[in-house]
Amino acid sequence: MTRIPMIAGNWKMNTTVDQAVNLVTDMLPGLDAVKDVDRVVCPPFVSIKPAADLLKKSSVKLGAQNMYFEEKGAFTGEISPDMLAGLCDYVILGHSERRHIFGETEAFINQKIQAAIKNLIKPIFCVGETLEQNETGCTEETLTHQVMASCDKLYFFGGLVIAYEPVWAIGTGKSATAEQAQRTISFIRQLVRHRHGDEIANAVRILYGGSVTAANIAELMQQPDIDGALVGGASLKAEDFVSITKQAAEIKAGFK
Ligand code: PGA
Repeated sequence: MTRIPMIAGNWKMNTTVDQAVNLVTDMLPGLDAVKDVDRVVCPPFVSIKPAADLLKKSSVKLGAQNMYFEEKGAFTGEISPDMLAGLCDYVILGHSERRHIFGETEAFINQKIQAAIKNLIKPIFCVGETLEQNETGCTEETLTHQVMASCDKLYFFGGLVIAYEPVWAIGTGKSATAEQAQRTISFIRQLVRHRHGDEIANAVRILYGGSVTAANIAELMQQPDIDGALVGGASLKAEDFVSITKQAAEIKAGFK
């Protein structure tokens, strides 16, 4: 079973519109030249439209970093699926910063996933344990709860991608080792298999995220269950992000 690898850049709350336009312009030739890997950039909302215009004729896809689930109405400050549909192919949902800083719950995230799928936007659904959960041996229990709550069979047919991002590895410069990431992602795939069967488990893409850089991507991509990466800090540097996607393509090509 070959899964198309994917590298997504989560820019978080960085870049003004001008800076975002410059960053997309800088990375576009390099990203566009990479074959057989899905490449996605996720700028802040205000830069989605300018980025979409720049990416229109390329093979690089666009993602949003968040979304509300209602179609429209009195939800001050929110962005609806309808506003993103047609501009974005992907949306990051359930990111640990949304869970921990903004208090998003499993039920809330699940509503967003449903709304994304209904609007043909593929969710990049983030899961991951905190340092405390990791140190107290609760990683598997935490992931089981997160995956079971939000991974309905139908969502996989809508293109749902899972991103395993241990909270202790995000923005800390302390990535999980390739072996740790492989072990946990394999566990997540087993959860999906147990619940939804072989076909879905073998097809679903599961990314690793948390301090991914041009220096550690190769080792991560060599793992059989790791299908790519959700990259934060290193996605803000054109050269690094292009290098990450290139290395991902080279390594996965070697497996064919
Ligand atoms: P990082 O962020 O690569 O800066 O650790 C990853 C993420 O939060 O998606």
